[in-house]
Amino acid sequence: MAFPVSDPTPDGVARCLVVDDEPGVRRALTRLFRQQGFACLEAATGREALELLTEMGEVPLIVSDMRMPELDGMGLLQEVRRLHPDTAVILLSGATDTATAVECLHRGAADFLVKPVSLDELQARVIRALEKRALVAQNRFYQANLERRVHEQAERIQELFLQGVQMLARALEAKDAYTRGHSIRVSQYAVATARQLGFDPVAVDQIRLGGELHDIGKIGTREAVLHKPGSLTDDEFGQIREHPALGEQMLSPLAHETPSVLRCVRSHHERIDGLGFPDGLEGDAIPIEARIIAVADTFDAMTTRRPYRAPWSPEDALSELQRVSGTQLDGACVDAFAAAYPECVGLVPAV
Ligand SMILES: [Fe+2]
Repeated sequence: MAFPVSDPTPDGVARCLVVDDEPGVRRALTRLFRQQGFACLEAATGREALELLTEMGEVPLIVSDMRMPELDGMGLLQEVRRLHPDTAVILLSGATDTATAVECLHRGAADFLVKPVSLDELQARVIRALEKRALVAQNRFYQANLERRVHEQAERIQELFLQGVQMLARALEAKDAYTRGHSIRVSQYAVATARQLGFDPVAVDQIRLGGELHDIGKIGTREAVLHKPGSLTDDEFGQIREHPALGEQMLSPLAHETPSVLRCVRSHHERIDGLGFPDGLEGDAIPIEARIIAVADTFDAMTTRRPYRAPWSPEDALSELQRVSGTQLDGACVDAFAAAYPECVGLVPAV
């Protein structure tokens, strides 16, 4: 029966290293391994064995005597476990010392045999050690592969979820002529502002998505309230105020991968003076992504037609942003949006 080794050298032969200070023992062992198709390396001491490994690279199997000059079998075992943890090390000892045998196994030896060893017995133990080594390698491969597959599937699930909510956001707007295109415009204004503020491309992408989804929680608001032409009662306004937290809840599957999208959704109605909702955050306590969305959202609300009023001109809307800068909106975000506005001109709906 051949030894089960899956990692032969480039010339197709698996290597093993026989370490013993008695030339006669080395000869007998190398003969056995060569018959099994191994290319055998030989060393007379642990030190010599380590030098050979440094020179020739890892071997699947080491069969080593325990008692040798310079570096004994236990010392060699420790070094091999540290440098080549995949190598199976079988130790041979002249002493029937159970404590040593247990310690060798404890320190990671694949097996421990007492001399004199019959070649049949050694062959059986080697087969077992190499099978175990192959199984450990296979396990590790499957584990790594499984983790990659799980990761890929998790990404795909998130992608599908995201596509779903984006479609939902568009469906929500499509029902209302006055808000049609609102989220996309808010997203584009916010992206221009974020770039102006020097955000990196990954952060800009999250703001893009945050803008697209910022009002997704309105799906939970009754249409009669959402599209009411007149002023809202306290109760109705209370319902509107729920949409940021509801939106954050809806998007919670994205929390791990894209947390700043959730911050955009939850905090886009906060105000610098702390009078916003849902958390009444103040100043810098409001996430920067949400402060950017708030500017974009306010500008788009002013420059689009409402059932009860005509749209503001972009110039008037920009002046209004400046007027509420520092109380309702973040000053730096207002300035960044104003600086980036020339590239957004084409996005403003025609009056
Ligand atoms: Fe909103």
